Amino acid sequence: MAKEKTVRELEDLPGIGEATAMKLRNAGIDSLDKIGTLSPHELSDISGISVDAAKKVIQVAQESVNINYETGEQFYERRKQIGKISTGSKDLDSLIGGGVETNGITESYGRFASGKTQLGFQLAVNVQLPNNEGGLGGATLFIDTEGTFRPERIESIAKSAGLDPKSILSGIIVIRAITTEQQILTLERADKLIQEKNVKLIIIDSLTSLFRAEFVGRGALGERQQKLNQHIHRLQMLADKYSIAAYITNQVMDNPGILFGDPTTPIGGNVLAHAATTRLYLRKSKEDKRIVRLVDSPNMPEGECVIKITTAGIAD
Ligand code: GTP
Ligand code: MG
Repeated sequence: MAKEKTVRELEDLPGIGEATAMKLRNAGIDSLDKIGTLSPHELSDISGISVDAAKKVIQVAQESVNINYETGEQFYERRKQIGKISTGSKDLDSLIGGGVETNGITESYGRFASGKTQLGFQLAVNVQLPNNEGGLGGATLFIDTEGTFRPERIESIAKSAGLDPKSILSGIIVIRAITTEQQILTLERADKLIQEKNVKLIIIDSLTSLFRAEFVGRGALGERQQKLNQHIHRLQMLADKYSIAAYITNQVMDNPGILFGDPTTPIGGNVLAHAATTRLYLRKSKEDKRIVRLVDSPNMPEGECVIKITTAGIAD
């Protein structure tokens, strides 16, 4: 049999000429994957070709569409390649299954001074460590939407770990965003930067504050959620494509619907609840102690641990 040509257009399918292709397009069937979902009878009705011919056409269309599937075993092999960044606390690392994972989004939410930003600083330092020391040997893209990035703080965390603060600071690319457009565009245009600087961690601190400030009132909620949704999907896409860990912080509000228990709810609603792979709820405790609750994780049980915020950074 002659080598089959690659099938890209409707016209490349066996027995589909220009006229038939036009009929199909007029009926809204304009791509190979759409053909692939039709039954032979449907295709025959729309195009006028015989049912038998339609069967063949559908088969070829289905074969030509690239569907990326993998077996559970392949998936598991790929998961083993996932990198982890140590948080600086052994307890917190074990709570989340070894550290903040690449290819996913880790969210921390909590009230002011609960430690969300401090954890980000620690991760921005630790990601630069070699693999066997809890890092990924990569740089950080730090999107600062609240103006709270503090190089002095990075310096003291680095020094305490015996690292060269200058070199650590040069491994953190800080972008200060003051509008949601800037925040969104930073991710849209991040590909080149990620590759050039070997970015292994993207931090957005915070993900939600600008959205909250710009989209005010009930009427704006739909648009806010839609923009937020696109933004976070872009983040997940980058995390997957370049094996990057994403760490986002989020504010909280009191949910008046919760009468008993802790009324603290993260901002962002379902959009964020579904997008974040791992969710951490940070709470202030006595002095420098903070309680971290693992609220949502694909493979670890819920639980809590205590961390400390010290001059040296996050510790047990
Ligand atoms: P918001 O951004 O306001 O919502 O809070 P956050 O959750 O980001 O809080 P952040 O991570 O900035 O934590 C602030 C806490 O870290 C404060 O209670 C500080 O006391 C503590 N902190 C910051 N720097 C240092 C430091 O150099 N040494 C010590 N020991 N604690 C610090
Ligand atoms: Mg903060």
